[in-house]
Amino acid sequence: MSGLFISFEGNDGAGKTTQAKLFKEYLEGCGYSVRLFREPGGTEISEKIREIILDNENYKMKHMTEALLYAAARCQLVYEGILPALKGGQIVICDRFLDSSLVYQGVGRGLGIDVVKDINSYATGGIMPDLTFFLHLDFSEALSRKNYQHELDRMENQKAYFHNRVYKGFMELAESEKERIVTIEADKKPEIIAEEIADYFNYFVGSRGL
Ligand code: TMP
Repeated sequence: MSGLFISFEGNDGAGKTTQAKLFKEYLEGCGYSVRLFREPGGTEISEKIREIILDNENYKMKHMTEALLYAAARCQLVYEGILPALKGGQIVICDRFLDSSLVYQGVGRGLGIDVVKDINSYATGGIMPDLTFFLHLDFSEALSRKNYQHELDRMENQKAYFHNRVYKGFMELAESEKERIVTIEADKKPEIIAEEIADYFNYFVGSRGL
């Protein structure tokens, strides 16, 4: 099978990171060669940009600056990490990708989805995941899970109405791109969710003859 690009999306605390890791283990157990990246991050430069974006001291950051920084981190990851791995026939799992910018910056910050798409067309060269798992969990429940894990960063610290807009933005996006985005109900035990994701993946590769 040639390379396959799969992303995980959802509100902060919905469980993407756990599921992306479990999915990597599952795929490796099936014999696939897999790369797992996170966004923003995944390369040395992108991780440095991540620190700037999430630093609570940077509360003066303009929304457009934020959108451009996410795009810059993504650009580096696409050309240094994702494209070479796909060319090498690997499965790439990304813990967030462009959809997060469309929803957090486009909808949450109010920059508009088209503006954020435009910026990112330079950053990604148009590459999009073949398949996206959207972990659906009510934004307030998701965020309260985060509270237990660590001190909240600049994005997590945004007000509830911001996270609610993000939540609604994800649901609208998932509704409008049903071909690519699969909604997974995330209010279950991690093992159950992981099984559903693996089942869908097997259906996906089977139905496409991959
Ligand atoms: P993470 O906690 O999933 O690693 O993501 C870091 C934060 O960055 C999270 O609050 C979501 C946010 N984010 C955006 O606002 N736009 C983006 O394009 C990405 C990738 C993440």
